[in-house]
Formats: sequence, structure tokens, C-alpha cells
Amino acid sequence: MVRIAVLGAGRIGKIHAASVAANPKATLVAVADPFADAAQPVADGYGAEAMTDAMAAIERSDIDAIVIGTPTDTHVGFMMKAIELGKAVLCEKPIDLDIAKSEAAAVAVERAGGKVMLAFNRRFDSTFAEMRRAIDAGRIGDVRQVVISSRDPGMPPPAYVKTSGGIFRDMTIHDLDMARWLLGEEPVLVTAVGSRLVDPDLLVQYNDYDTVMVVLQTASGKQAHINNCREAVYGYDQRVEVLGSIGMLTQDNLRPTTMRVTTAELTDAREPLLNFFLERYAQAYRAEMDAFIDAIHGDKPMPTTVRDGVLALRLAECAVESARTGRAVAV
Ligand SMILES: NC(=O)c1ccc[n+]([C@@H]2O[C@H](COP(=O)([O-])OP(=O)(O)OC[C@H]3O[C@@H](n4cnc5c(N)ncnc54)[C@H](O)[C@@H]3O)[C@@H](O)[C@H]2O)c1
Repeated sequence: MVRIAVLGAGRIGKIHAASVAANPKATLVAVADPFADAAQPVADGYGAEAMTDAMAAIERSDIDAIVIGTPTDTHVGFMMKAIELGKAVLCEKPIDLDIAKSEAAAVAVERAGGKVMLAFNRRFDSTFAEMRRAIDAGRIGDVRQVVISSRDPGMPPPAYVKTSGGIFRDMTIHDLDMARWLLGEEPVLVTAVGSRLVDPDLLVQYNDYDTVMVVLQTASGKQAHINNCREAVYGYDQRVEVLGSIGMLTQDNLRPTTMRVTTAELTDAREPLLNFFLERYAQAYRAEMDAFIDAIHGDKPMPTTVRDGVLALRLAECAVESARTGRAVAV
């Protein structure tokens, strides 16, 4: 059994605790959060121990692996401690908001031969994983363009916007990782534009955007287009298209059922989209955790790495620069 501590009992920590508890090869030993009120119910739900000191959880000799679901500015400190003690880590995105600190952490992990998986959950979504498999099987030939539409149902609270690091590092980073993964090549050129159309006053205050588009190009000329908006009134919109030399793959939004309703007023009416990321990616979070535990169990390489975290963050940095200057930025 892989003995695991989940750090942070917030939105994502609760999901990770449930995924660990559901995996037959792992035991959830501890849940750590400075707020005992947050840690206790999550720990109690799975017969684990609630702790208020995350460092003390990492240091426990009966813990083999750490899941970091704490605020972004705490990730590197916990990761480094775990690596020093030879423990495996599943770390939430982004590694850190600072690219130099993220790069230094990645180098330290690589030098130590540390096992760190970056939580890019969308790679584990069964519909997107099917796309990757279809590309690998040659079903659409050589990839030429990737188009990703990724829109949230509504603006996050102002307190979240304030500490998020901006839409490119916080939200687009998932799509930047997806673009790298589906293109199969590293982008070398980034062009981005950003607007404030949803909540201009708030976004001016934090020098951020709510509506962005990013274009990536690789050295061989493959392209990706990402569009993000913090508000889509019809719900959480997650669609991907990949154009290849002999065909195209598309993945549409998932819905609670595939039922369509036809009446005198409407044809082909469908249920609303799944609410937000916790619902849309429920399967992906579970599969991500299973992949982490399998890699530890079988002593295999991690399916995503701390380097993937740095490369996606570097693309986000280039997007910030491009939106600011109005110029294409070489990676
Ligand atoms: N992969 C995804 O889809 C996804 C989704 C949401 C959030 N995230 C990432 O997960 C991280 C957490 O986000 P969230 O939305 O769950 O935040 P959250 O605020 O809901 O939860 C964070 C929890 O961590 C606790 N915490 C704060 N300092 C701590 C410390 N020193 N030790 C232990 N616990 C501590 C807080 O008390 C809180 O309960 C962020 O880095 C975010 O970018 C990823």
C-alpha cells in the first residue's frame, strides 16, 4: 500500500483525498490543513488523521507520498521537503507563480532524481486521452492545428483574482499543457491578446484580463489556438479540435445525459453543460491519482513531470509578455 498525506483540505484537496481513498493500492493516512475545521471532516470521512501542520505530515515515517493541494505560494516549500526525505509528490498546478523559482525547483527535483508528478488533470480525461491515442495511432496523420476552447461559467471571487497570478498562469496554463501534449512538439513562438469585458473595474485593479486568446507555433510550423473567458453564461465550456493531414478529431462538451428534447418550440434541446471543473473532470481527477499511485507502486516514471509544469508556466509568461507588448514572443 502507498501511504499518502493530502496537504490542503480545500476545493481540490477534498477531491484528491476522495481519489486516494478510492484507490485499492493506497491508504489515506493524513489530511493536513492549518484550519482543523477544514481538515477534520475530510480526514474523518476516510478514517484518516487530521493534522494542522503540513510539514509535520511530510516528515512522518509512515507516509510514502504527498499530494499538494495547498495555495500556490506554498507548493515549492512542501515539494522540496518531500524530495529531501525521498517521498513522491503529486503537486497541483502551477508549481509557483514565479518562473525562476519554478525552474530552480525543477532542477533540484531532477538532480535528486525525485518523483514529482504535476497535476495536469486534463491529460487524464478519458475523452482527451482518446484524442491522444487516436493521434498516436495515426488516424489523422500529422498534426497541423490544435484548437482549444476553455471557458469558465463565471468570474471567480475578487480575493481569488488578487492572488491567482493572472488568467494566463492560473487558467490558460491547463490549455497550454494540453496544447504541448496534443501538438507533440514544443511551441517556440507565443502571441496573445487580453481584454477586460466581464468585470473591467476588478481586472484593471489587479492588472489582469478576463477574456484572452493565445496562438502558439512550433519550430516545424504546427499551431495551437487557445481561447479562454472567465464567463460563459451557458456553463463550463470545454472543447478541443485537432486538425491532421488526413483528418480531424473533435471533442464536444459532456452533459449529464445524451438525451435531446424536441417540441413544437425547440428541436434538439439538450441538458445544460456540467457545472464546473469538479463535475466535468471528476473522472480525470480520479484517473490522475490512479496514475500517480501506479507510478509509485510499479516504480515507473511519473506520467507528467515537474518539467511539464515549468514548460507550461514559461508559455504563460510569454503570453503575459505578448498581451502586454502587443508583440509575438519567442519562447
Ligand atoms: N488541477 C485543477 O483542476 C485545480 C483546480 C483548482 C485548484 N487547483 C490548484 O490547487 C491549489 C489549491 O486550490 P483550491 O482551489 O483547492 O484552494 P482552496 O483555497 O479551496 O484550498 C486550499 C486549502 O489549503 C489550506 N492551506 C493553506 N495554507 C496551508 C498550509 N500551509 N498547509 C496546509 N494547508 C494549507 C487552506 O486552509 C485551504 O483549506 C492551487 O494551487 C490551485 O491552483 C487546481
